[in-house]
Amino acid sequence: MNTVFDAVPDNPYLLLTPGPLSTTKGVRYAMLRDWCTWDPDYNEDIVQNIRRRLTALAAKNADGYTAVLMQGSGSFSVEATLGSAIPPDGKLLVITNGAYGKRMARMAAALNLPYTEYALAETEAPDPEEIARRLKDDSALTHVAVVHLETTTGILNPLEALARAVKNAGRLLIVDAMSSFGGIPLDADDLGIDFLISSSNKCLQGVPGFGFVIARRTELEKCRGNARSYSLDLYDQWREMDAGGKWRFTSPTHVVRAFYRALDELEAEGGIEARYRRYTENRRLLTAGMAELGFDALLPKRLQSPVITSFLYPNADFDFTGFYSRVKERGFVLYPGRISQADTFRVGTIGDVHAADIIRLLDVIRDVNTA
Ligand SMILES: Cc1ncc(COP(=O)(O)O)c(C=O)c1O
Repeated sequence: MNTVFDAVPDNPYLLLTPGPLSTTKGVRYAMLRDWCTWDPDYNEDIVQNIRRRLTALAAKNADGYTAVLMQGSGSFSVEATLGSAIPPDGKLLVITNGAYGKRMARMAAALNLPYTEYALAETEAPDPEEIARRLKDDSALTHVAVVHLETTTGILNPLEALARAVKNAGRLLIVDAMSSFGGIPLDADDLGIDFLISSSNKCLQGVPGFGFVIARRTELEKCRGNARSYSLDLYDQWREMDAGGKWRFTSPTHVVRAFYRALDELEAEGGIEARYRRYTENRRLLTAGMAELGFDALLPKRLQSPVITSFLYPNADFDFTGFYSRVKERGFVLYPGRISQADTFRVGTIGDVHAADIIRLLDVIRDVNTA
């Protein structure tokens, strides 16, 4: 059947990356018109609608939550949250087992926030008992920040147990769920998350341009006047947006409209559970096929997320640059590794990527590797 989307050009390659990722033609088509940002057809019908849908995706009982959209990439939303949520007399515990946890620690330093780091190796999951101990030993700690899915390796941190440790200690919990939200089921309310951060171009499968924070309203209300930055003030952004869907500064209209379409597509797919099953099947096919081709995964299965997988170089002579170029010529973009302890590369299994794509990829890798 022909649809208007057929007019949208195909991408020259499939991005097997953790975002920006390959989007559908429907999402790209949604960007083809302009919007005025002061009328209800944008503010109410699109922006407020997105905010309501995001909180509903984050929790079954979403009454206590609100969503704040923030211009920029995901890091801007992380920085806005850290800079706004921690009061002048607060102190942050940052859990780090990869680049994005480390980035939060660097933000805390740049913002002059009192903080301490629970640093682990990139292949090691945080221990909830150690967190409980640190919170008991340091009564100045008010907030804990953790990355749910460390995209550095693809490790899925044990959010439920970590959240329990933080909540049992009566502290506030900030979760960077950038590369998990929308692709891995979670309930912010059940877990007791106070601030959950993600962005338009990850598992919700929009295009890059804004991030968002799903915040417990009672905690966000306490953020007034805390922000260490004028533009990255989460409280002020919320107040302005909550009053009628208007962004405090120019809103990325086309990206926002594309995101609205991406949320429609998530619903049509069957919601987060269905998307999780698709990603999990992509990852299962990928790791099984790669093992047959001589590529072992860096992480043991119990730590591995369905979003992105790190593979060890198969031998000391492996030329990743050449391999990458030849695979790209055949229609797939892989992702270089980022860890210090081993030579790795990564393959993402999110976006508009399906089992048939993974099977084609494995055929390409087989050809390229034996050529
Ligand atoms: C877990 C995590 N946190 C933060 C970020 C930063 O997001 P951005 O690159 O959009 O600023 C990323 C990006 O991949 C990420 O995976």
